[in-house]
Amino acid sequence: MRKPILAGNWKMNKTRDEAIHFVLDVDHKLPKDGVEAVVCAPAIILRDLVKRSDVLKVGAQNMNEHEKGAYTGEISPVMIKDTKVEYVILGHSERRQYYAETDERINAKVKTAIEFELKPIICVGETLEERESNKTNDVLKTQITKIFEGVTFENPDNIVVAYEPIWAIGTGKSATSAQAEDACKFIRGILTDIYSKEVSDKIRILYGGSVNTKNIQDIMAQPDIDGGLVGGASLIENDFIELCKACLK
Ligand code: 13P
Repeated sequence: MRKPILAGNWKMNKTRDEAIHFVLDVDHKLPKDGVEAVVCAPAIILRDLVKRSDVLKVGAQNMNEHEKGAYTGEISPVMIKDTKVEYVILGHSERRQYYAETDERINAKVKTAIEFELKPIICVGETLEERESNKTNDVLKTQITKIFEGVTFENPDNIVVAYEPIWAIGTGKSATSAQAEDACKFIRGILTDIYSKEVSDKIRILYGGSVNTKNIQDIMAQPDIDGGLVGGASLIENDFIELCKACLK
């Protein structure tokens, strides 16, 4: 059985004080079993949050694929690892859109994350234009195939994919649970082709895009959806706790 994950992606929000306040408030109210609750916070405060959390897990939002070197402003896998976080989001559509990240680069980052024993949350998803021209499956297939090219891992439990249709991110317009399930099931099928059914059955696939406390139940009722990657709603303490509880299957 795949253990559900509710991962908050805080993006570029919360000061250190605000983030610590969140963790201290939320940590002891979370379910202790049955769901992994994660907040992916700005890199500069990761260590502060890891130190103060017990049930709540912490993740980074990005990571450079190189171990070290002349990459001004970047954060290396060694530095991320040093903060003691467990997860790292890779290939978020905002990174693709604003910082020109490609599937090839995300592929390199995934390999690096696995090498450094960080659990990647790998984001894929189509634009509105691609959906409206019925290209969703083609886009997902290309993204997954390129991102997983040459990627090997021992434990599929440590690999997470997030289906995040770009048109649903921050728009308040979530995919329907049927659309989300179709895409997540399709992604699992591609992973079966690349690896095996045994492996793809263990990889967790999340849905992200305007997830909130009202739509989470429908989303979680889908057989191929193992949790949510949540932006806006994850910033609010009570909503985050409610979302985590809704992931208990
Ligand atoms: P929203 O939940 O704010 O739509 O953001 C989704 C997202 O991008 C999570 O990574």
